[in-house]
Amino acid sequence: MKNVLDKLNWRYATKVFDNSKKVSKEDLNILLDAARLSASSYGLQPYHFFVIEDSEVRSKLRKASWNQSQITDASYLLVLANKPTFDDSLVDNYIDNIIETRGVTKKDVEGYSQMMKGALLGLPDEQKKSWTSDQTYIALGNLMTIAAEMEIDTCPMEGFDKAQYNEILGLNDKNLNASVVLAVGYRADNDETQNYPKVRYSKKQIITHI
Ligand SMILES: Cc1cc2nc3c(=O)[nH]c(=O)nc-3n(C[C@H](O)[C@H](O)[C@H](O)COP(=O)(O)O)c2cc1C
Repeated sequence: MKNVLDKLNWRYATKVFDNSKKVSKEDLNILLDAARLSASSYGLQPYHFFVIEDSEVRSKLRKASWNQSQITDASYLLVLANKPTFDDSLVDNYIDNIIETRGVTKKDVEGYSQMMKGALLGLPDEQKKSWTSDQTYIALGNLMTIAAEMEIDTCPMEGFDKAQYNEILGLNDKNLNASVVLAVGYRADNDETQNYPKVRYSKKQIITHI
């Protein structure tokens, strides 16, 4: 059994996927649960995750991604979309979920609800958009780490045109915005990148103990 650091050294941003090997639906579902279980600020989960398998849609997305082959050759393309704006309903829906899940009353969670609304609803639109996008990266990290644990390859991707993705996937009408993408599959034997040593600063350079 490899230890966790071995798994993190094993993973790399896969450039060439073997399109003849497909990640099973069971494993995909574990990854989607890992995304769903991610932490988010206040627990609000201001995002939606898309699993793109349709080959026509993926061809279009590849054109909107600098023609990067991972978009079409991975087993699945996950698009993590954030809510570019939000109103009271973001908090109210979450509060309803807490009430249902934990069997508490509206009165029990009224203070929490008001606190979230006070902190978030008055933010300028640009901040709302960047704050919800930030949350998708936590899910991205979990997806990559859990995939590595399962010896499934991934490539996190920001190299795509968000406006084109939003158009192709019809996200604008749903108050969603393509934030970041994750290609999920198995590496091709001839992907040379897998042999490159990891380029990372030393602990001394990036960690300070106080
Ligand atoms: C948010 C994010 C966006 C990235 N976008 C791309 C991308 O569009 N295409 C690509 O080939 N790699 C992309 N990468 C991969 C990085 O270049 C890679 O993670 C980094 O060089 C470190 O290498 P490693 O992940 O193989 O250890 C991205 C990584 C992150 C975290």
